Amino acid sequence: MTVPNDIANIALAQDGVRRIEWAEREMPVLRLIRERFLREKPLKDIRMAACLHVTTETANLAIALRDAGADLRVCASNPLSTQDDVAAALVAEYGIPVFAITGEDNETYYRHIHQALEHAPQLTMDDGADVVAVLHKDRRDLLPGVVGGTEETTTGVIRLKAMAADGALGYPIVAINESDTKHLFDNRYGTGQSTVDGIIRATNVLLAGKNFVVVGYGWCGRGVASRARGMGAQVIVTEVNPVKALEAVMDGYRVMPIADAAREGDFFVTLTGDLNVIDREHLESMKDGAILANSGHFDSEINLKALTAMSEGRRRIRDSVEEFRLQDGRKLFLLGEGRLVNLAAAEGHPAAVMDMSFANQALGAEWIATNHHKLTNAVYELPDEIDQEIARLKLHAMGVRIDYLTAEQQKYLTSWQEGT
Ligand code: ADE
Repeated sequence: MTVPNDIANIALAQDGVRRIEWAEREMPVLRLIRERFLREKPLKDIRMAACLHVTTETANLAIALRDAGADLRVCASNPLSTQDDVAAALVAEYGIPVFAITGEDNETYYRHIHQALEHAPQLTMDDGADVVAVLHKDRRDLLPGVVGGTEETTTGVIRLKAMAADGALGYPIVAINESDTKHLFDNRYGTGQSTVDGIIRATNVLLAGKNFVVVGYGWCGRGVASRARGMGAQVIVTEVNPVKALEAVMDGYRVMPIADAAREGDFFVTLTGDLNVIDREHLESMKDGAILANSGHFDSEINLKALTAMSEGRRRIRDSVEEFRLQDGRKLFLLGEGRLVNLAAAEGHPAAVMDMSFANQALGAEWIATNHHKLTNAVYELPDEIDQEIARLKLHAMGVRIDYLTAEQQKYLTSWQEGT
């Protein structure tokens, strides 16, 4: 009998299995964790709801959690990021309930979150804090049974910290994003490669020689800027934080306000986690043919209402590309409906970086399941030893050896008497 599900097409399962196994080859750290989980069952009979992008990499995490003994349900964390063959494989081949269909409307998206909550989870796993939000707004009756959660992304962590500061957070949550082995690699190299990948898959437009505007110079923005430069684009960075702006200048980029960049850009990518960072006035001054994409968590960064209001017509040009014909005759092109372009138009971050992100998720779930009784309703970081261990395992898997401090060096670093 198949497990509970709402997916697009179960007949896609074998395609999904082949692609999940392909991703697994690049996820050696998660593999080691899964092998230990199989032996030790650290999540035995714990009910979990995981709201994540349903990709081949997430499938490997879900399998590890299942093998740890968890009673897991999975729903999507974005209406456009589900890979339907992966959802089918999880249900048909791996016995994991999934509620996710690519292209689902908002109502279905939230119905799926509710379905993932129907078995009253004790642990939640989020990417963007939508499960936490639904639990705290619509299913408060389930809150007493939840002992802890994990959160994947910068945007989710910001939301959760705001909840904790308000005294509104109902249980402790581990901010996976804060681990070095998460944000330094996933946000930078993962977003960097997959965002450029999404833009190229959607448009097949040459980047070399074009003005490529990166809005926001956090870890994600840095990754995208460096990869776009690697493709030969002239990168312009816009930023509100003076330290980050200074870093962008010294990394060799042109830095200017978005109002100026708006006039120059051929491509725009937003990665700020904030609202309307490309606003009506910027859309008004863009060149005919400018291509707009967002790689931040929510579709709030480009003012889509203004873009729609300014347009006298819109049409789909090719998968993930929509043309907006403005009243003054210019055309602007929006990729992936302004949702995460790396997941809407490509496949998200490559498995080799998700290996570390999801190693953190797996160990984060184990850590909170073990330690929740010692915690308050706050946002926690994983202990540094876990970060170090994940990095050590990854280096080992990559065949990279490093040095260790000698006893003399270790002593030197902990003594205050030594000087010139
Ligand atoms: N977030 C970004 N890329 C991802 C991927 N490949 N799988 C799951 N979540 C992601």
